Amino acid sequence: MRILFCCTDFKAEPWLAALRAALPQAEIAVWAPGAPAADYAVVWAPPQQFLNEQPHLKALFNLGAGVDALTQLKLLPQMKLVRLDDAGMSVQMAEYVCHALIRHFREFDQYAADVAQGKWSFRRPRLRTDFPVGIMGLGVLGQRVARAVAQFEFPVVGWSRSARQVEGVRCFSGAAQLPEFLEASRVLVCLLPLTDETRGILCRETLSQLQPGGYVINVARGAHLVEDDLVPLIESGQLAGAALDVFRQEPLPPEHPFWRHPKISVTPHTAARTLRDESVAQIAGKILALERGEFIAGVVDHQKGY
Ligand SMILES: NC(=O)c1ccc[n+]([C@@H]2O[C@H](COP(=O)([O-])OP(=O)(O)OC[C@H]3O[C@@H](n4cnc5c(N)ncnc54)[C@H](OP(=O)(O)O)[C@@H]3O)[C@@H](O)[C@H]2O)c1
Repeated sequence: MRILFCCTDFKAEPWLAALRAALPQAEIAVWAPGAPAADYAVVWAPPQQFLNEQPHLKALFNLGAGVDALTQLKLLPQMKLVRLDDAGMSVQMAEYVCHALIRHFREFDQYAADVAQGKWSFRRPRLRTDFPVGIMGLGVLGQRVARAVAQFEFPVVGWSRSARQVEGVRCFSGAAQLPEFLEASRVLVCLLPLTDETRGILCRETLSQLQPGGYVINVARGAHLVEDDLVPLIESGQLAGAALDVFRQEPLPPEHPFWRHPKISVTPHTAARTLRDESVAQIAGKILALERGEFIAGVVDHQKGY
């Protein structure tokens, strides 16, 4: 069995070593143009040339949960794309979102500013019931985040494409129920995949429908947010602020206003990192399952784009 590794932004050597340890029977190499045909590939943002040269792969394993870097390429309909299915990311996402939510709700930034000035001052406690958390996307990551947020006793609402039932979450689905979902949310967490339907979904029109003093946590993809709409909504007082992990251009350019806005907190696309051991174990397990002719989870639906 031959496996190619074609991942921009990843140091190849430790991944090759881990893959070889998990699949000792396989021949595993870094892709270079003209490489002989392989059975499987492990990819992250591969060039179109890679797909053109390897049309007969049995499966492509994406080193992330979001496959938007692949779906924007010309893919053959028979190509089996497999995304990472949690692989240690959901607990990280839960940490990130709970941190951003609680930091905002408990006004920890304001306390830090007071403390920096030597001020011992209390703020009036706020009610959790005034901060319902709306989670866009109730997939692998969204459901884990919903569970963590509910543990802190915030009311939780969720929105997905198809109707879902998630314990402790008031669920909405489809475009028709989006307004009702937004009106029920004050803190909005985006955990959607980036598709033609979701690009630009965090915009003036939708964010204006949040409860007053809305707060945005975008941990999905930068292109979900219409960046130019955000600051005016914060300046007008409609939104209280935002915690952003992802941006239209990454790294975020030094002159971008988000860096310095006092009500926007920025992190460098780090909410849920791809973990090598978990990812390799999952991919190796799935390759072996495919070789046995078994069903595997996490196969991308080309029609839906995720
Ligand atoms: N910042 C980071 O570090 C980081 C790390 C990992 C992942 N991510 C992002 O997180 C995203 C979510 O990952 P995941 O593993 O949770 O994905 P997933 O399991 O595929 O879940 C996606 C969810 O979004 C919903 N959805 C998709 N299109 C929709 C639409 N048009 N309207 C309403 N709901 C829609 C789906 O609805 P159904 O339930 O009906 O299918 C599903 O509930 C990834 O695509 C990636 O972009 C970011």
